[in-house]
Amino acid sequence: MGSVTYDNIAELVTNDPTQGDESFLGLRHDAAVVVDDGVVAWIGEAGQASPTDERVDLEGRCVLPAFVDSHTHLVFDGDRAEEFAARMAGQPYAAGGIRTTVAATRAASAEALLASATKRLTEARSQGTGLVEIKSGYGLDVATEVKMLQVAQQLTDETTFLGAHVVPTEFADDHRGYVDLVTGDMLDACAPYAKWIDVFVEDGAFDAEAAREILLAGQAKGLGLRVHANQLRPGPGVQLACDLGAASADHCTHLTDGDVAALADSGTVASLVPGADFSTRSPVYPDGRRLWDAGAAVALATDCNPGTSYTTSMPFVIALAVRECHLTPSEAVWAATSGAARSLRRDDAGRIAVDDPAALTVVDAKTHVHLAYRPAVPLAQVLGEPAP
Ligand code: NIG
Ligand code: FE
Repeated sequence: MGSVTYDNIAELVTNDPTQGDESFLGLRHDAAVVVDDGVVAWIGEAGQASPTDERVDLEGRCVLPAFVDSHTHLVFDGDRAEEFAARMAGQPYAAGGIRTTVAATRAASAEALLASATKRLTEARSQGTGLVEIKSGYGLDVATEVKMLQVAQQLTDETTFLGAHVVPTEFADDHRGYVDLVTGDMLDACAPYAKWIDVFVEDGAFDAEAAREILLAGQAKGLGLRVHANQLRPGPGVQLACDLGAASADHCTHLTDGDVAALADSGTVASLVPGADFSTRSPVYPDGRRLWDAGAAVALATDCNPGTSYTTSMPFVIALAVRECHLTPSEAVWAATSGAARSLRRDDAGRIAVDDPAALTVVDAKTHVHLAYRPAVPLAQVLGEPAP
């Protein structure tokens, strides 16, 4: 790979206050970064790096840690454009739409799933995303859940078993039987391909009691915990996530004061996915301001999926988080990088530090503020990737 100097960076977001201006973004101005064999080797003043094999003049652009998309459902087949159009014509969103994607995903080959997921991942990288988490959950039978996770594992280390997405049609009259399958044969078959386990805690999906049982079964198999929590209405998901020490409670659209306090007092990250609130036309967005001010760690993710948020764009999510969740542009950038890395318990991502793997995103602007200020303009891309 050799060594490269990225020179003339107008603003470098390190997310490390000790190497920048002491703000949480750890900003440096007029900076340069040397990458040697894929590892950050040096950070310093523009024009001051020792000679390297290659020098890239970034001409006053902004560089930040590549976005970490900590909640995606990138592996699936089919789409639900008609459901989206009906929703925009007034139909409410219900968890049951997931079953449409289950039918298509069961019928798809692993090769077809890999091809379409790879296309979506390429889309994400061309918009600045470095690391993604990918969930199963559109199989809901042992063979398809395994198939999805095997595909996901070819794209990321951050794979999540979501057998408890909804109860499939064939278990409509036997919810207990499905929980037994998820915690038994399905978990046994899927755990070798997963790092995390997740449950959709919601009316029409899983209640708190079933979710606790499923999460504890996953934990006993060595999986870390994540929860789809409080998406469509207030509910027990956030408190359950905090009680069990989950790494992440995702959605967090409908929170009580008790939920906010639980998140602030725990190591559980509040992962906001406002793309889902946008595409379901939710009457409310998650209140990022309230969470941040309470001291909760906040992450942002796309929740890319065919039902509720068919976007791979972290810049779009940042713009929504600023406009609708009332984070500042700086807070939103932190949440999409450092916060999201924290939600995956990764301390080697979401920051720019010497000796870390180099995952750098360049923004074609002089400051990170432009990500929210210029919505839907393709400014961000992973350094070294082809132009969007
Ligand atoms: O995160 N909330 C549950 N799961 C997805 C929706 C999946 C779907 O509708 O297909 C979500 O929004
Ligand atoms: Fe989701």
